[in-house]
Amino acid sequence: MDNAITDLPRGMQECLPDYRDIHEVAVPPYTDVEHHTWATLYANQQKVLPGRACDEFLAGLEAVDFPADRIPRLADISDHIERHSGWRLTRVDGLVPNYEFFKLLSERLFPSTDFIRRPDEIEYTPSPDMFHDLLGHAPLLVNPRFCAFFEAFGRAGVAAFERMPEGHPARDWLPRIYWFTVEFGLIRNPGGLRIYGAGIVSSPGEVLHSLSDATTKHAFDLDVIMNRSYDIWHMQDDLFVIDSFDQLEDSFYTWARSHGLLN
Ligand SMILES: [Fe+2]
Repeated sequence: MDNAITDLPRGMQECLPDYRDIHEVAVPPYTDVEHHTWATLYANQQKVLPGRACDEFLAGLEAVDFPADRIPRLADISDHIERHSGWRLTRVDGLVPNYEFFKLLSERLFPSTDFIRRPDEIEYTPSPDMFHDLLGHAPLLVNPRFCAFFEAFGRAGVAAFERMPEGHPARDWLPRIYWFTVEFGLIRNPGGLRIYGAGIVSSPGEVLHSLSDATTKHAFDLDVIMNRSYDIWHMQDDLFVIDSFDQLEDSFYTWARSHGLLN
C-alpha cells in the first residue's frame, strides 16, 4: 500500500492545504510549454462547451474571465470569485483529506492546485491539475445557489466527522454525493440536458461522452447516490440529473437533516 501511495502521480497524493492568504503564495515559474498547455486546453473546451455546459456554468465562465493564452494566477481568479460570491481559493499540492476538505468548503474556501498537466496528458489525466480545478470548478463558485449547496455540503461533511463515530458510513456518503454532483452532475436547462460537473466540463472527451447515448442518465436521488460506488479511472457511464440548483440545495438539506448531518 505504501508503494501504491508513493507511485501516485502529482495531484493524487494527499496533502494539507496551504493556509496562507493566496496573495502571499509565490506564483510558480511556468514554462512556455506549460502556458501553451493551458491555451490548448482552454481552446479545446471553448469549442465543446457552448450548448453542452449549463447556462449557469457558461455565465460563470464569463464572470471569472480566464485568460485564453496563459496560466492565470490563483490570486487573480480568487479575487474574481470573491467579488461575486465571497468564496476564495486556497493553494494545495494534491488531494486534501476529506475532513480538511469539508472544513475548507464550510469556510467558503476552495482548494486549487497551481501546476498543470504534461502535454501528453492533454486528452486525459485522472489526477486533478489547475486546469481542472480552475476551469472545472471556478465558474460555479460565482453562482449563489450552487455556492449555498456547496457550503452546506461542507458543513455536513464536517458533521460526518465531528458528530458521527469513527467508521460511520456517513463519511463515505459525502464523497459519493460530491462525485455524482460537483464532479459529474448533469442538469436540465430550458434548452435541454446540460453539464455542470467539473470532471466533465474540464475534459473534452468526457463532455461528448456524458451527453451521448453511451451513458445512463438517472433521476436525481440522494438516497441512491449515497450508496453508489464510483470508478475514478474511467469515463463515467452512470450520471444523475438535477432539475435546478434550487433542487440540488433543497434536496441536500432534506437529506442531510434526515441523517443528522445538518440542523
Ligand atoms: Fe474536482
